[in-house]
Amino acid sequence: MSEDLHKITAQFISGENDSNILVQSFVCKDVIKAMAFVTALGLYELKLNGKKVGNEYLTPYFDDYSKALQVQKYDITGYLKNENLVEIEVADGWCCGRFGLDKKQNIYADKPAALLQIELTDINGNTRTIGTDASWNSKKSKTVFSGIYDGEIVDTTIDNDKTGKVTIIAYDKTRLIPPISPPVTLKETFEYDLVCQTENEFILDFKQNFAGIIEFTDHLNYGQTIKITHGEILQNGEIYTENLRTATGVYQYTGCGNGETVTPKFTYFGFRYAKIEGVENIDKLQIKGRALYSTIEQISSFHCSNDNINRLFSNVLFSLKSNSIDIPTDCPQRDERLGWTGDVSMFCKTASLLCDMREFYNKYLFDVRIGQGSHGEIFNYYPTAKENCGTSNVWGDLICILPDVLFSQYGEIDAFKENYSAMKKWINFVTSKTENLLVKNLFQFGDWLALDGVDENSFKGATDDVFIASVFYYNSTVIAAKAAETLGFEKDKQYFADLGKKIKDSIIHEYFTPTGRFALDTQTALVLLLWSGIYIHKEIVVKALKYRLERDSYKLETGFVGTRYILEVLADNGMGNIANEILFNDEYPGWLNEIKLGATTVWERWNSMSQDGIVAKNGMNSFNHYAYGSVASYLIEYLAGIKVAKNVVIIKPQFDIRMKQLTCSRWTNSGNIMVDFSFDNNGECHFNCDIPVDAEAILVLPDRKIQLTNGKNTLQFKVQCLTTPYDINTPLLFIKNNANFITVIKETSPVLFGILRGNNMELLSKSLIEICKMPFLNIEDKTLDELNKKIKECDWS
Ligand code: BGC
Repeated sequence: MSEDLHKITAQFISGENDSNILVQSFVCKDVIKAMAFVTALGLYELKLNGKKVGNEYLTPYFDDYSKALQVQKYDITGYLKNENLVEIEVADGWCCGRFGLDKKQNIYADKPAALLQIELTDINGNTRTIGTDASWNSKKSKTVFSGIYDGEIVDTTIDNDKTGKVTIIAYDKTRLIPPISPPVTLKETFEYDLVCQTENEFILDFKQNFAGIIEFTDHLNYGQTIKITHGEILQNGEIYTENLRTATGVYQYTGCGNGETVTPKFTYFGFRYAKIEGVENIDKLQIKGRALYSTIEQISSFHCSNDNINRLFSNVLFSLKSNSIDIPTDCPQRDERLGWTGDVSMFCKTASLLCDMREFYNKYLFDVRIGQGSHGEIFNYYPTAKENCGTSNVWGDLICILPDVLFSQYGEIDAFKENYSAMKKWINFVTSKTENLLVKNLFQFGDWLALDGVDENSFKGATDDVFIASVFYYNSTVIAAKAAETLGFEKDKQYFADLGKKIKDSIIHEYFTPTGRFALDTQTALVLLLWSGIYIHKEIVVKALKYRLERDSYKLETGFVGTRYILEVLADNGMGNIANEILFNDEYPGWLNEIKLGATTVWERWNSMSQDGIVAKNGMNSFNHYAYGSVASYLIEYLAGIKVAKNVVIIKPQFDIRMKQLTCSRWTNSGNIMVDFSFDNNGECHFNCDIPVDAEAILVLPDRKIQLTNGKNTLQFKVQCLTTPYDINTPLLFIKNNANFITVIKETSPVLFGILRGNNMELLSKSLIEICKMPFLNIEDKTLDELNKKIKECDWS
């Protein structure tokens, strides 16, 4: 299509006096093919003879319009008559409306303008072009107001028959590019439950938090106005909109009773609940919730016998969908909705497992590349909305992390090819901010929203900024070396490998004692060491992490960074049981705690809501933020255990007594992998899996490895950890509520029973073996022997 764009002679036009519909009529005869190329500074909806062309929303999408602007191409042959009326309605959108952290207006253009070129080919092969130019007219739009943050106001009773002139708007057409965004279209439909109703007010619950719009039929009286307020949460039965900050969350429509389906056109909302005002009866309006997001096809599935874990999978998927409206946003509801790089750095691996993210992320990487700073900075969000949005590690390291995910997940060598030079520039930029190769001179967000900061509402956790930044700087050199090797740049590969080694040495020199003890003592710091492989003696770090968690009563303290890796690191270092305890825990803080409190998407903060359902008022609180949703990769790669390294499939399920049945499928380049297992009452596992034709596959069980065959595999085996999942080495906290276990302890040792019933977290975090060996408790050895036997006979199911 690039050649087509060179042929564009049409000009950008805008209507006079805020008239946002640009109109033209034309006659055509014997046309056999008609193509339309259309774009706008702002948003557009193209109509031919009264019918919307295509089914996309929010076109031409969100680019850095000062550098690039996508042009959509539509086949409009089927829309034509002999006499035609073409209408392009434009709106402010990201380009001209209030947007960005600074909430500025007119960031990229003073007023919305559109460009359209129609190319007609007739039966004799003659071609004719119709393009926007000074001969067009404009008329008032019935969309009185719209804004990405501020909803929409529509008045269908406005008389807009009168037409006016148009003005030509200057725009450098070399910036026009073919479409690279996957289409944003309406997806799932949600029916509502009526929560409550007062005289002229209805509260509806769509039972799912999502990004999108409300659709209804105009069965209003002529001139009757319906006001719809969108919110994620109810508080005291009222819709809660404080967390939208300055975004209004309101759609207002004055109807005429024409019976047409109404959908907002130039905005979207993040919501689960809606308040409807201005009507006495809502039944005839046929109100529905409609999700709106870019086309990202789901490519994996997960279902097990634990409903909360299934809900978690679904919540992550919905947070991904809700934050994939052309750019990967942090949240879909408040006055932010920005393409924060750090959120993507931490979530892109999971997103790429859940959905086919190739097209979507390639568009984002295009935005990132064209917006890279002149010194190599990768800024904190893209498009930057021309804001001075700063740069920091983890966030900027996206330029290495995301291409690596696309390469590892989908085999996309182009992701390395296209982004390699940007990666190099970024690493050089970070190098310029270091002292002794530690990143000391750059602003850092740190372990964003971790719970071990100054207090539980702090932005930053306790983990040292320089440490986190330097680990990610190191990780970026590892990825750059891999990219260089893949692309055949031997010298570069060596350069990055050497640089990486020096950074690693520097981190070790700064943060370790000569005998291998680590100077920082946070969950995230210890997790990052094991994830990145930076240590002197691995066992010392593993022990330190275990000890840290024990002192934290096995409760999460991690923020955006630590959360991404903690469960995987635990499972990879012989602590899979602890990983699962943390995952399955439904007390605060944790993924299942949110679900216990009613979450249908992933929350921004562990404490977005208190245990009694009160929303935290901290100025930054979204209920649809996917960073902590990175955990869904653990469900696929660890619980179901499906991992792929090059062409080798390793199936290593993390069997758990709380999950007696599981089915999971994962798409790979060589085909779909499916794992399905269930346990019968004798602890016998009935295991099935499908392995793609070209792949080599092994099943790794706790006590052996089994070579799998291509196609279907059916096996049966016993898994010991299911019949006797806990023993005298298990921390009491994990089992203290099991009725059988309580009886065993009560019968065996009054001292231990006292501890079990007490509230001493220090003791409860320890195992029976550790407690029994405490000399001051005077517990005899034979008590431990007796417990060892009895605990094996306990029924844990
Ligand atoms: C966003 C985050 C983002 C952060 C920067 C917040 O306002 O919602 O998700 O990464 O700022 O740390």
